Amino acid sequence: MDGINLESVTKSFGSKVAVRDLTLYVAPGEIHGLLGPNGSGKSTTMKMVMGIVKPDRGQINLFGADVLHRPVEAKRLVGYVPELPYLYEYLTPSEYLDFIGTAYHIDVKTRRERVDELLEALQMREHINEVMSGFSQGMKQKIAITASLLHRPKALILDEPLNGLDPRSVRIVKDILQRLTGEGVAVLFSTHVLEIAEAMCHKITIMSEGTILAEGTMQELRSKAGMPGSTLEDTFLKLTGSEDTEKIVEALKL
Ligand SMILES: Nc1ncnc2c1ncn2[C@@H]1O[C@H](COP(=O)(O)OP(=O)(O)OP(=O)(O)O)[C@@H](O)[C@H]1O
Ligand SMILES: [Mg+2]
Repeated sequence: MDGINLESVTKSFGSKVAVRDLTLYVAPGEIHGLLGPNGSGKSTTMKMVMGIVKPDRGQINLFGADVLHRPVEAKRLVGYVPELPYLYEYLTPSEYLDFIGTAYHIDVKTRRERVDELLEALQMREHINEVMSGFSQGMKQKIAITASLLHRPKALILDEPLNGLDPRSVRIVKDILQRLTGEGVAVLFSTHVLEIAEAMCHKITIMSEGTILAEGTMQELRSKAGMPGSTLEDTFLKLTGSEDTEKIVEALKL
């Protein structure tokens, strides 16, 4: 099965249900935005897709590879930018990306070409031989993004990937993602910046307390919220407004 598939996935930490019976599909060529208040289960969902957190129940499949049963194959198919990227900061980007490229068995010539191309696009080439411990948050984020793309994954799991990036870099990452989706890559992308979600995502899922509150294109979300013509921000605030949660859930069933 192509794309990113989660079926009835549940994960608890102690008595806290972080993700509850979540079913989600990201088609090849789609940028799918994962939105929701702090603690709503976005990062946990993404970590389960990456095989970092093991679900209690449910199935996850990446382009035909079952994440739980064929983890190595699944990892070859997916690139990940974690919420808090951990880089080996005593290395330079050149050393670090070489290490990542080797781990993915990418030959030297190909990986140097890809590193050059990506660092050039992200305006990081001049820093390729500097130790990363001195990098700003945005510079580190660019290296994490580069690392996630090196092995040309079919699926991308990006947990707030634009954090710390300046507007020009945001634009460049947007362009890279649009090019990749044109090639059939499936992207699951979390963000709190609603304008970015609105501008970039083909589909949006709004989570709250581990479950899906609403899902669809911008247009579908607006009509679900009963707010045609409204911005994603108004729609999001209405859909996630705590005082009215029950009413909203009722309204969504119509
Ligand atoms: N390792 C863990 N141990 C215990 N509880 C956890 C763990 N990871 C996540 N949780 C809990 O699961 C819930 C969902 O957390 P998660 O990080 O998935 O939220 P999020 O939607 O990514 O939030 P944010 O927008 O702040 O990044 C929270 O209540 C959190 O406290
Ligand atoms: Mg998170």
